[in-house]
Amino acid sequence: MANFDAIERRQFVAGVLGVGSTFVLGAGTAFGGPLVCRSPKPFRPGSDKRPIAERRTVEALAANPVWKAQMLKGYAAMRAFHPNDPRSLNQQGNLHNVMCSGGAIEVHQSDRFLAWHRCFLYFQERIVSSNIHYSGSGAPTPKPPDPKFRLAVWDWEATSTPLFPSAFTTGSLHDPRRHSAYYANEGNILPALSVPATNPFEFYGYPVGGAGGSPVLENGPHGAIHMSTGLQTAPYKDMGNLSTAALDPVFCAHHGNIDRVWACWQDAHNNVTPNSIDPSTSSPFDAAWIHNTWRFTDWDGQCYSITPASIIDYKQNLRYTYPDCGKRREPRRLVISVSGSRLQSAEAGGEAASLILNDLQIPAPGYGRFVVIASINGESRPVGRFALFGHPMAMVMRRSVLATLSPEGVAALRTGASFAVAPEPADSGGLDIQVVRVTGGAPLKVTAATLVAL
Ligand code: C2O
Repeated sequence: MANFDAIERRQFVAGVLGVGSTFVLGAGTAFGGPLVCRSPKPFRPGSDKRPIAERRTVEALAANPVWKAQMLKGYAAMRAFHPNDPRSLNQQGNLHNVMCSGGAIEVHQSDRFLAWHRCFLYFQERIVSSNIHYSGSGAPTPKPPDPKFRLAVWDWEATSTPLFPSAFTTGSLHDPRRHSAYYANEGNILPALSVPATNPFEFYGYPVGGAGGSPVLENGPHGAIHMSTGLQTAPYKDMGNLSTAALDPVFCAHHGNIDRVWACWQDAHNNVTPNSIDPSTSSPFDAAWIHNTWRFTDWDGQCYSITPASIIDYKQNLRYTYPDCGKRREPRRLVISVSGSRLQSAEAGGEAASLILNDLQIPAPGYGRFVVIASINGESRPVGRFALFGHPMAMVMRRSVLATLSPEGVAALRTGASFAVAPEPADSGGLDIQVVRVTGGAPLKVTAATLVAL
């Protein structure tokens, strides 16, 4: 369980000494400050009486002036709260920063990833929805959350959204610390839906008790979108770095998409979680998961403690749904045989696909963008890519990665080519893989590989 006194002390020290993850973000805005979430009440499932409403897409947001005006006012209010108010955008960003600073409370790179971010979205949604009438000047005066208001989902895998969502480029939704050019073609997240319920760790991430490890939903387009929206290296720019990512209002829209894929997968798999019973041991896959306890501040400033048990049933307890979970085609999975760095399947089809790589060992620096390389007729060819967003990761950490694979890469699978992985040259971010100059890279090291076609 998170020890908040320890967090507060660390933030206080960081603030006073001006070290660690405290940043100064221009115009005299001090980022950070003490986290205040004391005397929590336990979150009670059933206490939220709003009707269940849909979180719609950013395209729907752009086409709906009423909703867009509400979003603009809600985020303007979050920017207007005192920077030490837990409802301020500053403190929302600070909370995310603290929960990604490593150590015992880290919520990335383990099976905490999906659950913590679901809670974060829920409380931020309530804060925004209680300020949709904000006058635009002075201190916000929140009203009880609007029953129908929900945040928007940036469905970045849809071909209809090749660009940064236009609704987030104006007013309080705009963040000047973004990349000016957004590169949308970061791959499809929906192949993650193919992960079978028998392997919840591939979908959720690995147990903290086993030193963690990140799931396909984290090591797929999730990371790439962060990096193409902000800068990952100094000077850190909001979405591009975990310490600042949640200072950008598009953060919740981005994570809405991750949460949507989780919700669809839950619906398809009878709510399997790390707390479900592993038939091979007759005990939960990760018995500790359900006991994670996190604190969040609600719209009226009340602090709540919440555990994964309260958020599995997102529709009943958190009062939202997502569009068209049910209508998706089941992705097709093809298990690839692995022998050393050689991957082979005679049955691999001819189209671009996604490749799930389990327990992938990553060459230094362990995070950033990577190219998947196939050796074809003695030549190293870039045939895929993926991105790992986050802290430099231990080489030994378990992780499942969702990579894109070009038709040439799929053809290489058919012949049983050997594969390698190399960090993408720093200046190639956002460029098509075909133009990346490729050197040999480190031979691919995985325990299993699966080809997924939609
Ligand atoms: Cu908490 Cu997308 O990161």
